[in-house]
Parts: sequence; structure tokens; C-alpha cells
Amino acid sequence: MLILGIETSCDETSAAIVKDGKEIVSSIILSQDTLHRHFGGVVPEIACRAHLESIIGIINNALVDANIQLNEIDAIAVVNTPGLIGALLIGVTAAKTLSMALDVPIIAINHLHAHIYANNLEYEDIQYPAISLVVSGGHTILFLSESETKHIPLGWTIDDAAGEAFDKVSKILGLGYPGGPVIDRLARQGNQRAVTFPRAYLEKDSLDFSFSGLKTAVLYHYRGQDLKNNDTTTPSDQKIADIAASFQEAVVDVLVEKTFLASRMYNARGVLTGGGVAANSRLRQRLKDKSMELSVPVYCPSIRLCTDNAAMVAGLAYKMYEEGDVSGLDFEAIP
Ligand code: KG4
Ligand code: ZN
Repeated sequence: MLILGIETSCDETSAAIVKDGKEIVSSIILSQDTLHRHFGGVVPEIACRAHLESIIGIINNALVDANIQLNEIDAIAVVNTPGLIGALLIGVTAAKTLSMALDVPIIAINHLHAHIYANNLEYEDIQYPAISLVVSGGHTILFLSESETKHIPLGWTIDDAAGEAFDKVSKILGLGYPGGPVIDRLARQGNQRAVTFPRAYLEKDSLDFSFSGLKTAVLYHYRGQDLKNNDTTTPSDQKIADIAASFQEAVVDVLVEKTFLASRMYNARGVLTGGGVAANSRLRQRLKDKSMELSVPVYCPSIRLCTDNAAMVAGLAYKMYEEGDVSGLDFEAIP
């Protein structure tokens, strides 16, 4: 079964064709990073316009790459929640139009569940129940995953998402957008013990997260308590690398600790990860270390499948289709 997946929830326009929920036949991802870089974050209006301009071309490219015609598609899958409302509507409208024109089923997909499914595209041996950590620019959530399609939220961020913290700290340090990849790279040259930044664990056994205090702590550390940065000397590259490494370590400490707390609490048989921040090399290393220590398998999708892509959308749709979870044409886009 060939499913065409469409993803436009944030700032990537993506289309992919996946066979039987496993084989990625084609996957096209157009990132809007260069459009948003100047503003230090995603500008919804710009994102919507860019999706609208490119969606048809991206779908066409996915078909050309797969060497198939539109009428060979068996079903359409599209992310309808969560995301920027205007951006979601563009993908949803394209998908509904195709579903009507081709007379094929349509499957509405939860973006966060699709991030978790990225693991199933690459690994065969995942056992349930599993704990799934979804860490992206807009979300930081722990789920209890009972199967490929059933995910119960256990805890989430009460303020900034982990990726948002990376992006904001990058802006503070003058490193540009998106912040995650730059901080990841720079942190390799830094000393993660150089600055002791706060770790917000919240109440005992809480599976919620908070990153806004950490972001503010970096701001004050970098610019001084009066935020005026009276120190006229430009901070050295080493100093910035040390701050980046110390900040990253604080985020990773909390993510790893709470993920394995959840794994203990729910007797998980594995830990799944997903979302842009799951591409972070330090997070992946620390999760693997803990996995060895506790003998709980940890799965991290390859980098291209961590950040937003439509292959994970088409993949999850196959499982939902098998379970009879097909949508009517009246489903909505929900931010
Ligand atoms: O999942 P994603 O592509 O889009 C959303 O659904 O939000 O995640 C984007 C986020 C951005 O905040 C970006 O800075 C972060 O993922 N990110 C990273 C890394 N690569 C991307 N954060 C930390 N380390 C990375 N290597
Ligand atoms: Zn995402």
C-alpha cells in the first residue's frame, strides 16, 4: 500500500511516499530556515505563505522521486494537529483536495505521534509499553506508548519547549536560528561544568518540564545582572562554547532523568525519542549510556527523521489504516 504523507505544521514543507508503513520510497523536505533566520524564530505569516508557494511542487517532487503517478497512491495522510493553524490548513486543504479528486481514503495525523512513529520506520524490535520522549521546537512531552498508535501523555512543559530554549539561548549568545544544531556543534568544544545552570525537576516524581528559568539564567549570566553587559570585552569563543555546553548539559540532565523516571514508573520495555531536539548528539549519547546502565533499550531515529518530515506521517497512517482509523473529509486543523 502506497501512502502519500503531507507535513506543513510548522516551518518545513514536506511530502513523502511510504510503502506499507515501512519503506520510504521518497521523502522531500523543504526547510524554511533561511526565511525565518533573520527574525530569530518562526514567523507564522511567512511560514504560511511559503507553504502555499511550495506545497504543490513538493508533492510533485515526491511523486517524481518515487517514479509513480498520482493515481497509484492508495491513501493520503496529513498532519492536522498540533501546529500553526494557518500552516496546518494548507497541508490539510491540499490533502483533502487530493483525497476527493483521487477518491482515496484520508488519514488525519497527530504530529507528535508521527514523531514517535519515526522509530518504527527504522527499528523492528520495539516492545511495548514504551516511554516516548518528544522534544521539538514547540513541544516537550513524555508519553506512555501502548502500541505504534496509542500514546497517553504523562507530562509536558509548563512553559518553554526544549527546542524553544535552544533557539532562545542561541539568540542570546548571538548564534542564530535554529539554535539547536549550532549549540550542539559548539558545545563539543566547551566545558559542560564551566557554569552551573539550574535544573528544574519540579515536585518529586513530576514528569512535567520547565525550561524558562534556565533560559533566563543564561541571559543573566551572559549579560550580567543588570542585563547591560557592562563588560566591554567581547566574550571569547571559548567562553561562549562553555556557556553553550553548560546550558545543553542542564537540558539533557532533566530530559534523561525524567525519561527514565517515567520508564521506571511504568515498567517500560523501551524508550523512544523523536522531534528536532532528539537529534542532539549529547542527549543521544547520555540516553545510550543510561540504556546500557539500566538495560532498557533506547531508540533514536536517524537525524533526518528526528526533525519534521512527512515520511513519519505516511508511516503512522498505514498503521492507523490497518486499525480502521480513517478520517472523514470533515476533520479540522487544530492548533
Ligand atoms: O521537530 P522539529 O523539526 O519542529 C517542531 O515540531 O518544532 O524541531 C525543531 C527544533 C528547533 O527548536 C531546533 O533548534 C531543534 O529542534 N533542534 C535541535 C537540534 N536540531 C534541531 N536541538 C538540539 N540539538 C540539535 N542537534
Ligand atoms: Zn515536529
